[in-house]
Amino acid sequence: MNKNFRLQAVEHFYDFHPISAQQIFEAVAARGIAKEDITEEVLQMHDQDHYGGTQAVDRLMAQAAFTSIDHMLDVCSGMGGPARYIAWKSGCRVTGLDLTASRVAGAIALTQAARMSDRVDFVQGNALEMPFEDNSFTRVIGQEAFAHIPNKKQLISECARVLKPGGRMVFSDIMSHQKLSQDNADRLFEGMRFSEIATLQDYISWLANVGLTSVQSIDLSSEWTRILVDRHAMYRSLETQTVTRLGREHFDRYDHAYAHFVGLYKSGVLSGALVHAFNPNKK
Ligand SMILES: C[S@@+](CC[C@H](N)C(=O)[O-])C[C@H]1O[C@@H](n2cnc3c(N)ncnc32)[C@H](O)[C@@H]1O
Repeated sequence: MNKNFRLQAVEHFYDFHPISAQQIFEAVAARGIAKEDITEEVLQMHDQDHYGGTQAVDRLMAQAAFTSIDHMLDVCSGMGGPARYIAWKSGCRVTGLDLTASRVAGAIALTQAARMSDRVDFVQGNALEMPFEDNSFTRVIGQEAFAHIPNKKQLISECARVLKPGGRMVFSDIMSHQKLSQDNADRLFEGMRFSEIATLQDYISWLANVGLTSVQSIDLSSEWTRILVDRHAMYRSLETQTVTRLGREHFDRYDHAYAHFVGLYKSGVLSGALVHAFNPNKK
């Protein structure tokens, strides 16, 4: 299966995802909040497309030790929830990069609504060929997105390239304890558009290959298993809206794929971790 096909499949998956910027605007309106009263705090319960919401971002922020002079890159920034939250909490500047044009448009619309466009911007592009100069950012982060990317060795190399000397990379991702069976790998691509699931050991060696050091990790497998069971229930609670918006077949296909994904966490095949690495390179 060629790389472009896999990237197009990811874009299509997010174009038709159950949660979108439009759905967030509707959820905010349903809370009785007018568009002109939208702030980052209003959005944060809707716009975090990873596991554990803003608490997970707080843990990532503690690892990354942000200050207001940082310029952070959020690789695979989705609807921009973590980007806005980190800028709001730390005062730093944030750039988000995402492959899916509709996600980037949604992130920009939500950021404008929260009046944060002076500090938070979004660029459409592929994380495997980042449209940034070398040594552009003091922090590089990613959450629950790298599993979609087919060549993670190249992804880590790109992250290291754009990270300034002295900078930190902190990311969490869906991983497996051991190499996945071909059947599970195929089903995770078919249903969730995960192109390559790495082990923690894979990540540690790719980080070392590009000269990143002081690698530390926190195992999130049990925490994510609990979260994913709840998340599946949340998607099921959106059945009526999703069927109306995207059709019965789409809902059933997504539900089936999600059940398989959550099952792989429950049976201990999949894992998750937060990984921290440092760029010691001197220019
Ligand atoms: C699960 S969402 C995570 C969004 C965000 N990190 C968050 O926590 O809210 C995954 C995102 O990765 C993006 N993505 C997948 N493959 C990508 C690639 N090769 N380059 C850039 N973005 C990509 C998708 O478009 C999607 O928006």
